[in-house]
Amino acid sequence: MNKTLGRFITVEGTEGVGKSTNIDFLAESLRIRGKEVILTREPGGTPLAEELRNILLQPREERISIETELLLMFAARAQHLENVIKPALERGAWVISDRFTDATFAYQGGGRGIPFHSISVLENLVQGPLRPDLTLLLDLPVEIGLRRASQRSAPDRFEQEKVAFFERVRQAYLQRAQQDPQRVKIIDASQPLTDVQQQIGRQITIFMRQ
Ligand SMILES: Nc1ncnc2c1ncn2[C@@H]1O[C@H](COP(=O)(O)OP(=O)(O)OP(=O)(O)O)[C@@H](O)[C@H]1O
Ligand SMILES: [Mg+2]
Repeated sequence: MNKTLGRFITVEGTEGVGKSTNIDFLAESLRIRGKEVILTREPGGTPLAEELRNILLQPREERISIETELLLMFAARAQHLENVIKPALERGAWVISDRFTDATFAYQGGGRGIPFHSISVLENLVQGPLRPDLTLLLDLPVEIGLRRASQRSAPDRFEQEKVAFFERVRQAYLQRAQQDPQRVKIIDASQPLTDVQQQIGRQITIFMRQ
């Protein structure tokens, strides 16, 4: 746990697993328990970080190098941490972020092939000791997630990647969960929404008892 009063919860998973859908449910279940809840997302969460998000997600002619992509992710994160996440935690709010640094390990690490230790260096530089208190990893076979996401909107720069890319992303996420089972809880996102919400509710109950 952080020494701050608030708690930092992140929601992770590949495209279309239901992160955005479940985040509102999660926020509501915490508000019912009397918590001040801040909902945010990555990349983004501040005006400047949202500009960086657009740069990262817009399909474009010029190829973005994998190092550029990695550094832009952490640039957005540094801004998000300083201006939104840390101040909220310091005043005792519960912050829920749709993606955070596990996504960088999964996408830029697993997906693009940047060594995990290089990402760890940036993680320590940008975050110091700050880590999420709880991470809900929504896990789903990638084809099902991509099908769900494609029915919702036109593909962004990441969604244009091939299934093999997302397979690597999924495996990197699962590896993160295996390495840190106390923090990262796997949610079976292939189930109907009510069942997914039950799983999330159970994890929140366990977390709040700690
Ligand atoms: N358990 C579920 N069963 C069936 N459909 C679902 C389930 N959860 C979410 N969906 C649907 O799947 C689609 C994608 O969900 P959502 O946008 O929440 O995913 P996401 O993880 O936020 O995606 P992205 O990574 O693209 O932001 C939505 O149309 C949503 O209604
Ligand atoms: Mg989403």
